[in-house]
Amino acid sequence: MTDALLVETRKADPATWWRQAAVYQIYPRSFADANGDGLGDIPGIVSRVDYLDDLGIDAVWLSPFYPSALADGGYDVADYRDVDPRLGTLEDFDAMVAALHARGIRVVVDIVPNHTSDLHEWFQEALAAGRGSAARDRYIFREGSGENGELPPTDWVSVFGGPAWERVEDGQWYFHNFATEQPDLNWDNPEVREDFLTTLRFWSDRGVDGFRIDVAHMLTKDLTEPLPSRAELELIPQDGKHPLIDRDDVHEIYAEWRRVFDEYDPPRTAVAEAWVSTPERRAKYASAEGLGQAFNFDLLVADFDAGQFRSIIAENLAQSQMSGSSTTWVLSNHDVTRHATRYGLPALNGRPVKQGTEWVAAGGPEDRLDRERGRRRACAATLLLLGLPGSTYLYQGEELGLHEVAEIAPQERQDPAFFRGGEFDGLGRDGCRVPLPWTATGSSFGFGSGDAHLPQPAWFAEYAVDDEAADPASTLSLYREALRLRHRLQTDERLEWIPTGRDDVLRFERPNGWQIVANFGTEPFEIGADAEGIVLSSGTVDGRSVPGETTVWIAPAGLVG
Ligand code: NOJ
Repeated sequence: MTDALLVETRKADPATWWRQAAVYQIYPRSFADANGDGLGDIPGIVSRVDYLDDLGIDAVWLSPFYPSALADGGYDVADYRDVDPRLGTLEDFDAMVAALHARGIRVVVDIVPNHTSDLHEWFQEALAAGRGSAARDRYIFREGSGENGELPPTDWVSVFGGPAWERVEDGQWYFHNFATEQPDLNWDNPEVREDFLTTLRFWSDRGVDGFRIDVAHMLTKDLTEPLPSRAELELIPQDGKHPLIDRDDVHEIYAEWRRVFDEYDPPRTAVAEAWVSTPERRAKYASAEGLGQAFNFDLLVADFDAGQFRSIIAENLAQSQMSGSSTTWVLSNHDVTRHATRYGLPALNGRPVKQGTEWVAAGGPEDRLDRERGRRRACAATLLLLGLPGSTYLYQGEELGLHEVAEIAPQERQDPAFFRGGEFDGLGRDGCRVPLPWTATGSSFGFGSGDAHLPQPAWFAEYAVDDEAADPASTLSLYREALRLRHRLQTDERLEWIPTGRDDVLRFERPNGWQIVANFGTEPFEIGADAEGIVLSSGTVDGRSVPGETTVWIAPAGLVG
């Protein structure tokens, strides 16, 4: 990497680097497979450090790489302080951190505190120790209802579908918000609290710069008897006292974590995955006394629509002022349909519908996915986001314009949400977790020397890194150029809207004079003399006219490239 400004920016204030960072999410088992066993691994990441460096990102966030039976893609953690042997060793992890740090790329790891794997030694101990034991108190065990306790304690449903309680051999039931293999921890138990502090220190001591906190809004619970029914639960407002979601007392945990983060120099950062009801409630997770930043997922459920984007941008910038944090922009991650695919389908509140393995919209089969349109719109949306104040989280593969894979046979699927019939667009989340195509030909498109753990479709060849890297008009080249230039426009965390006279065109200026124009419509938008300063465009600009579904960046006078 030769861009001097990028090198400088990466060295920027070590305590605030996260505020406007571009963070690249790696789903380790699907990124790069160094040993040919079909699963991506840590040495695979090390082998791609040049790629990450050239991409121009500031940090990587690694989804779980811990020992796991993969009942939920690694979010069922069997040991929080080790690496899954199929993915490498702790020494490999250290080597990866060193290699990334040598390039100035920071490292964020995923912490999963709401639940463990059922293979975690604590849960195995709880099963063996029996009712009333200290080991069972680390989890949420209850007697069943019905005459002989043969029915679950409540009719609650797990997030992935199906009952939220599972019975164990001696007749007691345990609670699991997610898959059966993911028993929820009891956060009233001091040992549980203490152990997570140990885990945070363990990774911080190994040089990790920050943490992404899984379902940060679900840890604490009020399970005082009598427990409400599912119908009653749904009527309880999520305003801090709900029995299961976004309780005020969860912030005591994060205040304690903050003290641990601040033991380090620079302080470790954290970002909350918190699906909560209002911006005010989200701000609590983002406070400086707590985790410091919280994901803003609003664009995951928005259409490709200027009005929706504008109000989401305005609300979230206002909200980040409220918390003193910076906001986070996300269009894709490992839990949702890739945004190139969402935008290639007719709008349906941002969510496409699947029938069987086909992507269709509510309108019927004639409305099938338009791949090129989806990619075009995805690039326009990403370029708009990268010009906004705040940090942007990018999901592996989106820099290639990659689409969701719908054509995975049921017997090859892995996501528990698919098998339990829960949410997540009908087909579950495997379609966005298919291993990356590094080369247009060769075994598993260069992912590894053997077959990939999820099948890659033939059309992946069209999105291969090697071809895109050589093509200046590719999505990858656009991301690289945008991430390089982004360091010039990300100075002050403000923007000013500029009227466009059109509902489908957004335009704003950053305090240092950079302007972003995003045309969500299909008619070209004339930008007049400013066109001279266009330094980046997600489509081909003709003279002074920004084509439909295209975003351009305009540099201040005198600054080009
Ligand atoms: C949120 C994670 O992003 C998702 O992948 C996982 O299934 C659930 N939390 C449960 O850990």
